[in-house]
Order: sequence, then structure tokens, then C-alpha cells
Amino acid sequence: MTESKDQNDRTRPGGIDMRELAGDRFPPPAWHFEKIEKEMASPEPKDRMMGVISRMGDQRVPDLSGIDWDAELARFGNLDFPSYYRQPFHSVPGGYLSEAAAVGDRGAMEAIYEEVHPRRSLGIREEIALLVPEEARFVVDLGGGTGDAGAAIARRLPEARVRSIEASPFMLIAGAHQNGQHENLELVQGFAEETGLEAASVDAVLITLVFHECPDKIKHTILAEVLRVLRPGGTLVLSDTLKDELHSFRGFYEPYKQEWMDFDPEAALAAAGFEGIEDRSVVSSLWTLIARRPG
Ligand SMILES: C[S@@+](CC[C@H](N)C(=O)[O-])C[C@H]1O[C@@H](n2cnc3c(N)ncnc32)[C@H](O)[C@@H]1O
Repeated sequence: MTESKDQNDRTRPGGIDMRELAGDRFPPPAWHFEKIEKEMASPEPKDRMMGVISRMGDQRVPDLSGIDWDAELARFGNLDFPSYYRQPFHSVPGGYLSEAAAVGDRGAMEAIYEEVHPRRSLGIREEIALLVPEEARFVVDLGGGTGDAGAAIARRLPEARVRSIEASPFMLIAGAHQNGQHENLELVQGFAEETGLEAASVDAVLITLVFHECPDKIKHTILAEVLRVLRPGGTLVLSDTLKDELHSFRGFYEPYKQEWMDFDPEAALAAAGFEGIEDRSVVSSLWTLIARRPG
């Protein structure tokens, strides 16, 4: 990465050269760079984004430098990624279909949550893992990213089988390197809205920080899928960022920010047919709800 003299240069947010970051493995379309530059050109302050970028280098992160990306990517088939997913999330060219998103994930999460938890994102994950009922034996984490949340559940419930379902092969590859030591955690490629799981086969589902990155139609489809795969009485733990919190990270492009500002998670859960909806938030910048499939 090249340092820029002007940290606010639209093409170099935080001094990072976005075109270099993209790499040449899956070259992102030109409109990704246009969206990123437009986000940087907005007049709102970018101080929180800059703070995260500057703190990322101070975090303890797994060493992923030895990954042979070409060899590992060759293991994955050609999933047909829907257009809602092929966006430059967080101003990363290529979005989740990029090495940069996967390699930077732990450092970014730790830097963001350093502000609200003494043990940063990993500490929050441990607290959220406590919300999964201890008798659960099959737990599914949807949109599981690099598997840090699934790993927290796998450690807490060694008798349980945990499956992290994630669309991006890049996130799965990084996840296998940073969480591969957990024998009861499997990282599987797939979509949250169409898991392929048997009906009523899952004891608990976790979804963290995925909904703010999905259009409303997909959020509702995912909730219907969760209701289908949970056994009667099974638990959903749903957690995501507060509206104002998301809004304050200007500069990190979020394609569905406006829909997020209007989304009411409790109403969506009730409309989908969940019951026993309870607020079990663990830190100030995230809401965390639990809900049950009736029965
Ligand atoms: C902000 S990250 C959160 C990852 C993880 N849940 C966590 O808490 O760190 C969002 C993740 O959801 C994945 N994702 C988004 N939409 C998805 C979908 N429809 N199906 C599967 N994964 C999805 C992205 O690829 C990305 O890894």
C-alpha cells in the first residue's frame, strides 16, 4: 500500500491506494471506484473511519501472509453471486470478493470495537456466544465471515457442532487459517437465504453484522429461512449495528445504509413469525436480540 500525503484524497482514503488494494485476481468493475470516490467526496466528517484505519495496524491479527490464494481459490466452484452482494462494501474494491476484505477483517473488527469493549471484537463475540442455549447441539452462523463468532461458540460449547455459512471464498479461506484449530467448527460456502439445511434441523442460529449489508427483501428472506431450519423452540441470536453508529462511519461505503435507517428488527422478527423476542444487547454500539421459533 502506498502512503498518500493527503489522507483525505478521494482516491486514497486513509492514504491507501484503492486501485493497488484491488489487486488483479478478480478486477472490480470501474463503478466500484466511482462509488468509493463519491463516498469520500461527501462533506460529512470521516474521522471515525480514519480512526479505524489508523488503529488497524496496532491490533493483534493472525498472520495470513502464507496463504496461496490462487491454490485455495481453485477449491471453490463458481457461485453465482447476486448483484446485491457484488458491491464495494466498506469502500473495499471488490467488496467481500477480495483478498483485502478477508485479510483486513480481524484488524478492522478489533479496531472498531476497541472503542466499546476492553477485549474488543473477540470479547464481544464471547459475550454473544453466551446467548446460545447451552443444550444446543447444532448451531449455524449465517454470513459467518472469517468464523470468529462461530469459533467463540465452538469454544463455549465443545459438544456442539457449529457450521459457519459464508458466501465469500476469500472470507472462508482466511477463516480456515485463523480458526481452523476448532474441530467442531466447519466453514461452508453458501448463502444465508438459501442454506440447503433440512427443515427443523438446527438448534440455534446466529447472525451478526450481516443484515445492515443486505437489502430489505433479502433480510426478510433470511428470516423466513431461519424459521424454516430452526427446530420448534429453537433460538435465533440476531445482532447488528445501531443506525446512528453505522451513519457515523462515513467514508466506509455501505450500499444499504438508507434501508438500514428505516429497518425495525423487532417488527421484522415478529412479522416473520418469531416469538419471545428479547433485547440482550452486550455493548452500546450494537443491538442484540434473541427470538424463538414457536413450538
Ligand atoms: C460485516 S461481515 C460480518 C461477518 C461475521 N458475521 C461477523 O460478525 O464478523 C458480513 C459478512 O456476511 C457475508 N454475507 C453477506 N450477505 C450474505 C449472504 N446473503 N449469505 C452469506 N453470507 C453473506 C459477507 O460475505 C461478510 O463476510
